[in-house]
Amino acid sequence: MRVHPYLTGQAPAPTPVAQTLLPGLPLFARGKVREIYDLGDRLLLVASDRISAFDVVMNEPIPGKGIVLTTLSAYWFEATAGFMPSHYISIDPADFPAGLRPYSDLLDGRAMLVKKAERVDVECVVRGYISGSAWAEYINSGTVAGMQMPEGLRESAKFPQPIFTPATKSSSGHDINISIEEMSKLLGAELTQTLVRKSIDLYSFAEKRARARGIILADTKFEFGLLDGKPILIDEVCTPDSSRFWPADQYRPGGAQPSFDKQYLRDYLLSTGWNREPPPPTLPSEIITRTAEKYREAFTRITGS
Ligand SMILES: Nc1ncnc2c1ncn2[C@@H]1O[C@H](COP(=O)(O)OP(=O)(O)OP(=O)(O)O)[C@@H](O)[C@H]1O
Ligand SMILES: [Mg+2]
Repeated sequence: MRVHPYLTGQAPAPTPVAQTLLPGLPLFARGKVREIYDLGDRLLLVASDRISAFDVVMNEPIPGKGIVLTTLSAYWFEATAGFMPSHYISIDPADFPAGLRPYSDLLDGRAMLVKKAERVDVECVVRGYISGSAWAEYINSGTVAGMQMPEGLRESAKFPQPIFTPATKSSSGHDINISIEEMSKLLGAELTQTLVRKSIDLYSFAEKRARARGIILADTKFEFGLLDGKPILIDEVCTPDSSRFWPADQYRPGGAQPSFDKQYLRDYLLSTGWNREPPPPTLPSEIITRTAEKYREAFTRITGS
């Protein structure tokens, strides 16, 4: 996998990219973070430096963030290729179609060439630790994703084993948690079983690896697609945007944990008294710089590079 010199400290972060525009290339979709270009049976996923918090995209990009997300995903796609086929082809602009050559500098590190798949519209969330909406549900009903949990769990405690908590993608942007039974009704029992098993295997693999590097992968979200009728892993994998990373040396169950990367940003946003509705407040340069450093640190710590 090609590693951009920014990630190894050999170059400063390139000019921040708030949005990409590749003239002449049809846009397949635009998400909160990525522009996706249509190349026929393949897609070009381009991660901008946009950052969202509380589901709102900030006005200011975080330099280098897209490079971290794309390269870290490539790292995990390569590491898991032995037991899980994926959409991943390459992040090296030299492997991209010749028509993209003029954009090589812009795309370097932040673009991933992938196989186009028919997206499965269920987010496959795996949780090793109880946090976020799972903690809220447990407090309310003693269950997580409708499953009865042991009594007396503390916030951020480790589950006896990882738990699969699916969600559907909703147009409002806030995902809706569903049960595995509801997922089976949407996708069929066979595909559901496969995705549950694959998701837990992927999480367990990544959790062990991150743990060995001093990071707790508290939970993460996978997306799958169908290619020739078979499930493959798509989207991004175990990045700070799709996962909760906690520094293992500061882990203290019984409350919320410091998150590895968006903590400064969230703390700052809360300190301004912002109501979490657009437009977001202007970010001071120190918050931008420290957030960028944290994203890069997440990459270097996990990959050991
Ligand atoms: N191989 C693939 N085939 C088809 N769609 C894909 C593939 N890989 C990723 N996607 C889709 O591309 C989009 C990536 O863009 P981005 O991460 O910015 O979206 P997002 O902000 O998470 O928003 P949303 O997923 O709600 O549209 C996602 O919608 C994802 O499901
Ligand atoms: Mg996404």
